[in-house]
Amino acid sequence: MIVQQNVSLKPYNTFGLDENAGFLAIVNSIEDLDEIYQTGRFRSQKKMILGGGSNVLFTRGFTGIVAKNEIHGIQIQNETEEDVLVSVGAGENWHQFVLWCVEHGYGGVENLSLIPGTVGAAPMQNIGAYGTELKEVFHSLEAYEIKTGKTVSFFKEDCKFGYRYSVFKGEIRDEYVITKVFFKLSKKPVFNISYGAIKDTLNKMGVDELTLKNVSQAVINIRQSKLPDPMDIGNAGSFFKNPIVERLHFEALEAEFDDIKSYPIDQEKVKIPAGWLIEKAGWKGYRDGDIGVHEKQALVLVNHGMGRGKEIFKLAKEIQKSIQNKFGIDLEREVNVI
Ligand code: FAD
Ligand code: EPU
Repeated sequence: MIVQQNVSLKPYNTFGLDENAGFLAIVNSIEDLDEIYQTGRFRSQKKMILGGGSNVLFTRGFTGIVAKNEIHGIQIQNETEEDVLVSVGAGENWHQFVLWCVEHGYGGVENLSLIPGTVGAAPMQNIGAYGTELKEVFHSLEAYEIKTGKTVSFFKEDCKFGYRYSVFKGEIRDEYVITKVFFKLSKKPVFNISYGAIKDTLNKMGVDELTLKNVSQAVINIRQSKLPDPMDIGNAGSFFKNPIVERLHFEALEAEFDDIKSYPIDQEKVKIPAGWLIEKAGWKGYRDGDIGVHEKQALVLVNHGMGRGKEIFKLAKEIQKSIQNKFGIDLEREVNVI
């Protein structure tokens, strides 16, 4: 296992934050995890597992060992005429896996095209976009139990998936390393193009036959037009979750702000886009030194170059305070603050 000492994490997080790790280990196997977690070598060190670093905010250096997940491999486990069960190493790149599915004609993840990061982190917050969530194609996963070194299987019901949530982000946080994820994909895809601008984009592309490739490309086009590419401007996608409020609360806001956007959840609850709230509170395009709020998408906090994680964290708190004052809503962070 390759272990480097005193390494800048700048290339390893999409905010591009220049904080140091005491050690950086490249993990390729369960044996590598054993070396980190079970042998004496790193016993006294704090430990964290990192995928693509696209949902973390480093507010300081990490004095212990950062284990970068590079467990690879994609294998077909089982198939019928209808579907296929595929196992994917947690260190595989999510978007490359989506492209592999599209190429092989396996449907279910095409609406999740171009989400950065690794396959192993995807169940952590049940990634979602354009009307699809990971849980819809999730079969099970294998995880390394840090306390014992054993591999444990988790099925869908064990993960308690919710909106940007699973047990790995909640009650058993930091207890497991996800090593392999199993997906059930369809050989007879049912397309879901009702969300947002997908239909319009397909029309603009001149598409008259729906294929996995076309839908994936439409999602890629929309995302590229809205979200900043971390290679150009540091960011971690949506910084906050879209809040879900009581219908009565929503109706009171609607009476005051007639352009408010919303998605009904059920009879009692309504989801409000945090981007709209943050824009309405005047933050869109805000910049202080090298940190700020993206000019096209107010839910995305950005690092223009030399910004620090602690400055972004401070800005996030100011935004939360202003949204509470203006709308009486608590914004919950989506990004993992280290
Ligand atoms: P990391 O940032 O490396 O880690 C995230 C958390 O998971 C950390 O707490 C880490 O310790 C933990 N973790 C990582 N790997 C493992 C593992 N193997 N086992 C256990 N814990 C682990 N998200 C969406 O849901 N939808 C979107 O549309 C979306 N769009 C985005 C757009 C942009 C431009 C960016 C930068 C981010 C976006 N995200 C989106 C957020 C992000 O891509 C996802 O959360 C992604 O799944 C994070 O993967 P990662 O490998 O980078 O995780
Ligand atoms: N909006 C504004 N101002 C803004 C941004 C958005 O008014 O600055 C309004 C838009 O006009 C639109 C609504 O808010 O009516 C929703 O905006 P958008 O379609 O861009 O999606 P979002 O709700 O901001 C969510 C996810 C994204 C996901 C997209 C597409 C969350 C927290 N974010 O964003 O996920 O890609 O929908 O499905 O649920 C992520 O999790 O990191 C992420 C990028």
